[in-house]
This record gives sequence, C-alpha cells and structure tokens, in this order.
Amino acid sequence: MSAIESVLQERRVFAPSEQTVAGATVSGMDAYKALCAEAERDYEGFWARLARETLTWQKPFTKVLDESKAPFYTWFEDGELNASYNSLDRHVEAGNGERVAIVFEADDGTVTNVTYKDLLARVSRFANALKKRGVKKGDRVVIYMPMSVEGVVAMQACARIGATHSVVFGGFSSKSLNERMVDVGAVALITADEQMRGGKALPLKNIADEALAMGGCEAVHSVIVYKRTGGKVAWHEGRDHWMHEISAAESDTCAPVPVGAEHPLFILYTSGSTGKPKGVQHSTGGYLLWAAQTMKWTFDHKPNDVFWCTADIGWITGHSYIAYGPLTIGATQVVFEGVPTYPNAGRFWDMIAKHKVTVFYTAPTAIRSLIKMAEADAKVHPKSYDLSSLRILGTVGEPINPEAWVWYYENVGGKRCPIVDTWWQTETGGHMITPLPGATPLVPGSCTLPLPGIMAAIVDETGQDVPNGQGGILVVKRPWPSMIRNVWGQPERYKSGYFPEELGGTLYLAGDGSVRDKDTGYFTIMGRIDDVLNVSGHRLGTMEIESALVANPLVAEAAVVGRPDDTTGEAVVAFVVLKATRPQGDEAVKLANDLRAWVGKEIGPIAKPKDIRFGENLPKTRSGKIMRRLLRSLAKGEAITQDVSTLENPAILDQLGESL
Ligand code: WTA
Repeated sequence: MSAIESVLQERRVFAPSEQTVAGATVSGMDAYKALCAEAERDYEGFWARLARETLTWQKPFTKVLDESKAPFYTWFEDGELNASYNSLDRHVEAGNGERVAIVFEADDGTVTNVTYKDLLARVSRFANALKKRGVKKGDRVVIYMPMSVEGVVAMQACARIGATHSVVFGGFSSKSLNERMVDVGAVALITADEQMRGGKALPLKNIADEALAMGGCEAVHSVIVYKRTGGKVAWHEGRDHWMHEISAAESDTCAPVPVGAEHPLFILYTSGSTGKPKGVQHSTGGYLLWAAQTMKWTFDHKPNDVFWCTADIGWITGHSYIAYGPLTIGATQVVFEGVPTYPNAGRFWDMIAKHKVTVFYTAPTAIRSLIKMAEADAKVHPKSYDLSSLRILGTVGEPINPEAWVWYYENVGGKRCPIVDTWWQTETGGHMITPLPGATPLVPGSCTLPLPGIMAAIVDETGQDVPNGQGGILVVKRPWPSMIRNVWGQPERYKSGYFPEELGGTLYLAGDGSVRDKDTGYFTIMGRIDDVLNVSGHRLGTMEIESALVANPLVAEAAVVGRPDDTTGEAVVAFVVLKATRPQGDEAVKLANDLRAWVGKEIGPIAKPKDIRFGENLPKTRSGKIMRRLLRSLAKGEAITQDVSTLENPAILDQLGESL
C-alpha cells in the first residue's frame, strides 16, 4: 500500500448550526453514536427495528440476516412486500394522495406536477398493460428512457408486478444496450421515440431498433415506446406499442404482487475491471429499506421538503434517490429532463429558486463545471438567484476537492447549509459513509463517518486493519441489507470480485483506496485501486474501452489509463498501436477523431477518450506485460523517472509522450 499515501492537509471544520442540530432526525453526535452503539450491541435487532418501522410488509419477516451461504447473504428472507405498494399505495391510503410526488421540469422549462394519487393510477395502468403483454413476476424488462415521469412509471410498474427491471442509461450505444439485453435475458424493452437534452433530440427508438437487430435478444416480445417528441420512428407491427395507447386501455387499479424480500427488484450494469460490464443484482426488502432510511438520515427529510437529486435514472443514484427512496418515504421531489447548461449555466439555480428546493443533491463534476461558468458570467452565478429555500446540500459520485466544496458551501448554500458528501456505490444500494447534516462536523473533501450499522474499515493487502493516518483498502466488515446480492448469472465473479480470498473471504471489497484521519477517524476516499476510471462520476472500465478500441479493424493494440482532470475528475487517455504504420500530423488527428467516434458508437459518448496517442508499440516488459504505471505518467505529461531498463523498447516512450 505504499502507493497509497494520504496527502490530505484539509484542516477547516464546519460544525452544524444549533438550529440545524435542534430540528434534525439524528440530532447531534451523541444521537449518532447512540445509533452506532445500538447496531454494535444487537446488529440484527437494529436492522429488524428499522425494517419494521420504515417499510410496510405484506407478510412480516421472522428471520433477519442469514449468513449460512456466505457471501450470498440474505436479509428478512421469509418476509414479503411490494416496492410499488411501499412507494405509492400506502401514502394514498394514509390520506396523502393529493401530495405532489413529482414536480417534473422538461428540457424546455415546461413544468408538470404529479400527485401520489395520479402516479399510483399511472403506474397501475401501465402495470396492467405490461401484464397484458405477458410480462410476469421474475421476468426481466429493460428500460432505455429519458429522464421523465414515464421512466419512473416504467420502473414502478415493473416493481408492482414483480418483474425485475434493468435500466440502461440513455447515453449508451446500441451495442451496449444489446449486450445488456442479452446478458439479462430481457422479455420486453421500454424506450422513447426521442430524448430531449439541451434543445437537441436524440433518437432513442432508432438506437433501440439497432440494438434489437444485432441479435441475441429474440426473447424481447414487446417494445413499448413513450412518445416524447413525436419524431419519426420505424415501427415493427405486433412488437411495438405506444405507452400512452396501451395504458389508456387499462384500469387504474392493479393489485401489487407481494414478493419475497430477496426477490430481485432490479439489475443495474456497471463497469468492473474486466472487459464486460457486470449486472449488479439488488434485492427488494433490504434495498428499499436503505433507500428510504438514508432519505431520513442523510437528507434529514421533513414533510415540507422539496428534494432534488439531479442524477439520471440510468445510474444507481437515480434508482435510490429518485425512483425509490423519495417515493418510499412520501417525499415531494423535482425530476429534471435536461442539462445544467441549457438554456444557460444558471439552470440549476433557477430551478432551485422556482421550485423552492430545500435539499439539493448533485455531482462534483457538475459543480466544478458550473463554478467556471459562474465565475465568468455574473448572470449565471448562484448569487444572482434566490436560493434561500435550501437547507441541505449533497454530493455523490467522486471525491469533491476542498476548493469546489467551499465554493458550493458559500455560494450555493449561503454558508448555512451542511454538505453531505456521500460515499457509496452501485453495489452498496445506498449511502455508506456520509456526514449527517444535524450531527457531523464537516471537513471539506472528507465523507466523514459510516452510517450507523455500516462497519466500514481500512485494511492492508492481507485484510489486517491499518492504523488511522495510513492509507489502505476500503472494506465493509459485515453484510448490510442493501448490499449487492449477486453479479447476474456470474456467482463466481461476485465471490472473487467482492469477497476476495486474499482479504480472508469475508470482507466486502469496495475497490477504493481510503485513509482515516489520525484525530477524527474521518474517511477520505483516494480513488479506485482497480482498473476502473471515474469520469464525471461515471464508472468506466479501462479494459472495456481497450476492447472497444481493439475491435476497430485498424487497431492492433490499445491501453487505456486515467489522468486527473479539473472538471471531470478523471479523463480517459488511450495509447494506440495501429496495424499500419504510426500516423503523424493531420492524419493522426483525423484517425484520433475517428477512433473517438468509434468508442462512442461501441460504448457510448461518455467513454470517448479525451486524448489519444499513437505509437509503434506499447511499453512492455520483456515478458510482454504492459507497464501501465509508465503510461499513467506519460498521460499526465510527467517526465519518466522510473527505471525503464526492463523495457523491451524504451524509445517508444518518446512517441507516446507526444500529444496530438
Ligand atoms: C466513487 C455512485 C469519493 C468511488 C453512487 C466509488 C466517491 C464509485 C463518492 C462508485 C464520494 C462515489 N467521494 N468517491 N462521495 N461517491 N465515489 O457505482 O470511487 O457509479 O467506488 O456509484 O464512485 O460509483 P457508482
């Protein structure tokens, strides 16, 4: 672990105000410590209490944690519930049907309010329509949709009938969509004619048609299309249906199907350190419990709050903090179709003011890019908007640098709003290490302390605890309810990837490096320790991009590494060897652009390399292993000081150091 050294010098501490502490769900550090102590004292009793208080069970559970098939843990296994019932019906039954569930703002600024009663009716109609097309409990349904009320309806409707959804981010290519539909064994696909972002229409249905035509997904018997723009689409009679037409034909009541707590609510694909994305399988009971509980604790949710999470439903953040968490606790939330820079870079601030948002949750990348634009143009500076409704701010997806944190705190939060820097992952289902707004003194750049019940720790390569102040591997020592249950169809990959034998086989390996502060024990995340990059808060496997590049007929070999980037956190740098001679000048620039477009087509625009370097070879040891450490230095523009005597061909370092 000598490679992981803590460089954190941050010493500023921001304690919550007396007022924030007084009204908070977890009020003060003593309350936080009492919850942690409760979990330590009686781990299962603690989780059982939360699960009974937070969720409505159709059939109560009698078992809590079962470790007999470790690491395939189960939680509340004999209990039965329905996620959609918990998200919708129970609020309507409690007399809150008229409460606004979703304030939807479209790309062009059009606002639509949807109450809990409306949402329940829409979900029920669509669930009936899915049933009529033969979709049943346990079937997998792929959702490839824009940010929309319909997207949330699609997810909730699947949950209502016990179908397992797999949402594919609307920015992924036809090839990525095809791979996911094949891997998950989809029987239906829900998409839209087009997606509107930043004033531009993107043809989702066309991409979906391409993906279906690639083959392997013949089991997809129905393609359901949400009409967003009315743009022209090809139509496959018998297979394709308009979402509004088939919904209109149905009743607005649909009995929620009770499922076992371990029933897979969804499968969400994410990048790992091998070439193929993995389907992270989540449960119903444990997952929903934590999505709801963290809304109460981390976001200190109150009935009058207007919550806004800016993530896309295609990522885990949009699952836990749009589609499930806020609805399960009966919150009012903003859902936004567009992008933060359209029609100008004041869009977020304008929307906060307009909808009187009280709790705002976004990504460091968005903050960093908006800082640049705000500092260049006073009109789009948060100070030009009335942001007085805000009371809590949050960040997620990547480390936030202290400068951006302080800017967010001062300019967006008016020095009054605590920032919850939430560390978690697709695999963890919900927040793991985060400040509590009415308890934890904040240190910019640190996600502070684990939530009660989360046994996070830092260990060395053998699984031994390291002392505070020393960097190491972030692990979780005990299973928790919302953890990943399996890698879809690949139990061995689940076991070896997350519970590696080298660490003893029982610690959950997060894949991040971390360090705890000597005095406070606060955690700081130092980034991934595997071959996964974090670009704008999105996980990209370097191997995945390498395989995409090598799939191009012109490419002989490719190696991909990350480089620190002021805006996106990390940027993708690709070193490429062509089958033909090494291109130079204009030819190299043109080829680099072609390869960028190629990666966009193979995976999606988010994976496009920012920088491509051509060489006659890659730096390899005599045994043929690519020396990635050298490539990382080259990508950063650093002089090579390492010993290169084991290199087959040291001269190529000069070629690869040249940017186009
Ligand atoms: C990184 C997103 C630092 C981390 C919810 C993790 C963070 C990966 C933070 C998971 C944070 C997420 N501070 N790093 N607050 N939150 N990360 O699966 O490297 O898309 O392993 O889940 O993002 O990304 P994922």
